[in-house]
Amino acid sequence: MPHLFDPLTLRGVTLRNRVGISPMQQYCAAEDGRPTDWHLGNLLPRALGGAGLVFVEATAISPEGRSGNGDIGLWEDAQIPAHARLASAIAAAGAVPGVQLGHCGRKGSRPPQWQAPPLTPGWTTLAPSAVAFGDYDAPQAMTEADIAKVLADIAAATARAVAAGYRVIELHAAHGYLLHQFLSPLSNRRTDTWGGSYENRSRIVLDAMRAARAAMPDDHVLALRVSHTDWVEGGWTTEETVRLGQDCKAVGVDLFDVSSGGLSPEQKIPMGPGYQVPGGEAVRQGSGIAVATVGMITEAGQANDIVGAGRADMVLIAKASMRDPYWPLRAAATLGCLDRIGVAPQYERGWLAFGALTLDKSITAPLPALG
Ligand SMILES: Cc1cc2nc3c(=O)[nH]c(=O)nc-3n(C[C@H](O)[C@H](O)[C@H](O)COP(=O)(O)O)c2cc1C
Repeated sequence: MPHLFDPLTLRGVTLRNRVGISPMQQYCAAEDGRPTDWHLGNLLPRALGGAGLVFVEATAISPEGRSGNGDIGLWEDAQIPAHARLASAIAAAGAVPGVQLGHCGRKGSRPPQWQAPPLTPGWTTLAPSAVAFGDYDAPQAMTEADIAKVLADIAAATARAVAAGYRVIELHAAHGYLLHQFLSPLSNRRTDTWGGSYENRSRIVLDAMRAARAAMPDDHVLALRVSHTDWVEGGWTTEETVRLGQDCKAVGVDLFDVSSGGLSPEQKIPMGPGYQVPGGEAVRQGSGIAVATVGMITEAGQANDIVGAGRADMVLIAKASMRDPYWPLRAAATLGCLDRIGVAPQYERGWLAFGALTLDKSITAPLPALG
């Protein structure tokens, strides 16, 4: 029975355990889209905290693909060194560095969540169809040339992500962003080969995954974040996500990161602990692709049960890791397996009281009391 602290191998990449840090945008890039000291300071503790995989936040494939001015990007080579610094810091702390590449489509050109719109100056957003998200500005429907540019930008950003040292590269097709806008019939009203049937709506995603796979070495992991449902009548469905899992597996995708919603303000989400686990489980069972599950996973036992029962191959945590970057270490202490997580030797003394740590033989003083 798999355990939360068993390693997970996908292609040539082995995660030391099955806990990942979910991508979390910080909205504070340097003006040229480079990650800053904030990003390094934010991500390094989460890698030191014991996670097997640490995702760098949604990273724009083009300036027009940003959610706003604070997004980091990989649309030009000059951005690679700042990403390389993040990737090497995460790897030095024992976690596998991953990055999420994305394009926001009609959800772009917005200020950070803590500021009121509009973004000044903003830009005209692109989407499959000229259908606005709620009260956002209406996007422009994409031409064939716009679609070709997105696919070329994905390939180029993937190659830059590899050059930066990321070993897991995830494309963002969830939360109502561009690729999700193509998948959902609510946002994709096209009548050409990019809209209508499941085959047409999913075409750009499969082309994107082929382009990304071709731009990375065989031993790197290719992942896709999907919303398994829009939670709206007439929208993208879990059944279609299962089919997409089968199709993506066939073009070399290794991991589905299964989230939900974000496409429509009409969504009714049955929020609760582990509420997206059933969707991920359906995809895992129906398509045979490895699945990362995410969403209100906050307790060690809960996470261990999900993996142990084969409902997902790994869990991702987001807000719980904002509260506590050492969530994986604490989970290992709670589950009585600190010895299996591999505490960094520099940190061992801090965790000795919580479990069977045997690495540092030089300590002779009595252990501190728990408390
Ligand atoms: C501050 C913040 C930023 C986020 N940024 C991203 C992002 O860049 N890409 C993404 O796919 N999801 C993003 N998310 C969603 C999380 O990755 C995660 O899926 C969601 O918060 C549910 O997990 P949780 O219940 O553990 O927080 C963000 C969430 C938060 C709280």
